[in-house]
Amino acid sequence: MQNMIHRYNRIAVTVHWVTVLLVCTMFILGWYMVDLPQGSSRGFFFSLHKSLGILTFLLIIFRLIWRIKSPPPGRPSEIGRFRGMLADAVHKAFYFVLLMQPITGYLSSSFSGYKTSFFSLPLPYWGWSDPPLNEFFTQLHVVFSLFLVFLIIMHLVGVVLHVIEGHGHLFRRMWFW
Ligand code: HEM
Ligand code: HEM
Repeated sequence: MQNMIHRYNRIAVTVHWVTVLLVCTMFILGWYMVDLPQGSSRGFFFSLHKSLGILTFLLIIFRLIWRIKSPPPGRPSEIGRFRGMLADAVHKAFYFVLLMQPITGYLSSSFSGYKTSFFSLPLPYWGWSDPPLNEFFTQLHVVFSLFLVFLIIMHLVGVVLHVIEGHGHLFRRMWFW
């Protein structure tokens, strides 16, 4: 039975779980830092959020390139046609939002009047201080973050349904052993 499971390869699995870790950290940091008062620790957490967000963006680009070079395993027969299509739609939406989320964050930052750095590497500053544009991209960033939460819930419901229906072994498609 074990050998019959068509799995994602090791790189895809590793990148999936590193992304999960990074996205969870981004939410914790994002929700925590916006309520901090003006001061040095607010600046520190904003910088950390931006740097880790850019790292997440680079990882998603790598993940998409890897996915093209090494396509995922075929859909298992246990998954019905409708559920398979739903899972594919959620996965595609994930990639779209995981790209849009850092892009809107970066654009919001670019119109905040502050320079953006990637850890200690200062990025070219092409933006300017523009409160309406900053607000617009901030709102988009918040909307995409809520969409991402919705997708994560849908994804987890899918995993839980597999387990309830006795197809828990499918989880191992995206696990290391
Ligand atoms: C996958 C990547 C990212 C995720 C999941 C994420 C998530 C979040 C969340 C949940 C918030 C709090 C929103 C709220 O007020 O409810 C936030 C705020 C923010 N994020 Fe991100 N973020 C990501 C990437 C980035 C990047 C790359 C940047 C900039 C380079 C960025 C800049 C910001 C800024 C400036 C805020 C504060 C907005 C405000 O002033 O209210 N984010 N982010
Ligand atoms: C931030 C949270 C998460 C994100 C953004 C995410 C994203 C994704 C994406 C995009 C795929 C599709 C991979 C591809 O075909 O290219 C995937 C597959 C998968 N994920 Fe997640 N995931 C998250 C959390 C989780 C969690 C918490 C679990 C388990 C409890 C999980 C289990 C799986 C499994 C089993 C698959 C393979 C689905 C299949 O058999 O086709 N994911 N995930």
